Amino acid sequence: MRPKLVVGNWKMNGSQVANANLLAGIMAGMNGSGVSCAVCVPAPYLAQAQAMLAGSLVAWGAQDVSARQAGAFTGEISADMLAEFACRYVICGHSERRAYHCESSELVAKKAVAVLNAGMTPIICVGETLAQHEAGEALPVVTAQLGAALALIDPALLTRILISYEPVWAIGTGKTATPAMAQAVHAQLRAQVAAKNAVAAEDMQILYGGSMKPDNARQLMAQPDIDGGLIGGAALKAEDFLGIIHAHV
Ligand code: 13P
Repeated sequence: MRPKLVVGNWKMNGSQVANANLLAGIMAGMNGSGVSCAVCVPAPYLAQAQAMLAGSLVAWGAQDVSARQAGAFTGEISADMLAEFACRYVICGHSERRAYHCESSELVAKKAVAVLNAGMTPIICVGETLAQHEAGEALPVVTAQLGAALALIDPALLTRILISYEPVWAIGTGKTATPAMAQAVHAQLRAQVAAKNAVAAEDMQILYGGSMKPDNARQLMAQPDIDGGLIGGAALKAEDFLGIIHAHV
């Protein structure tokens, strides 16, 4: 069985004081649950995360990255810079980046490649909007989103990526996909990876994101193809985040 992984996406939240309390609370509650966990923090707090979490059971990472390597790209942060802070994970193509920053699936694919080249693990996010969901288009939408990444990434490197299925209508809304609904999408995503690299597909952790909370995490993570969660709101309180980490079956 694949090990579970719970990743917090702090989004644009935090302060040095709040982060210190949150990270201390998470570390104190980890007590060898057997589930791996990580926090993806805003870039200015990577040094703080590294200083506090090094040697702990909690890994850390970033929420976005530039597809470019270096140079005159004001405001951008390169994968090599993130690697300097020993990030393990970098979220690529979160739906908020796709919606508010016009990121295409092709750009997301380039970002994932940049992350791989810098020795870190991209968490490639896919998910359909409410309108697409209601039109019954979830599967073709996520297939196209993942397809763009699979077209660019060397199949041999698929052992080093993660995917997160985050239905946009479930993010921050309190609505979750039913476990069966999410399972169906996860199974489809895994099959899509398997067509390129069967071994990578079998081992790949595919996370679910979208209003995952301590009280629904167990049911979601009990599904055979749901290997953990990408957590927004509930990652901002140690008690809730730990509740999800400890909810695994
Ligand atoms: P919520 O858990 O707040 O719904 O956010 C999910 C998410 O977007 C994680 O990346």
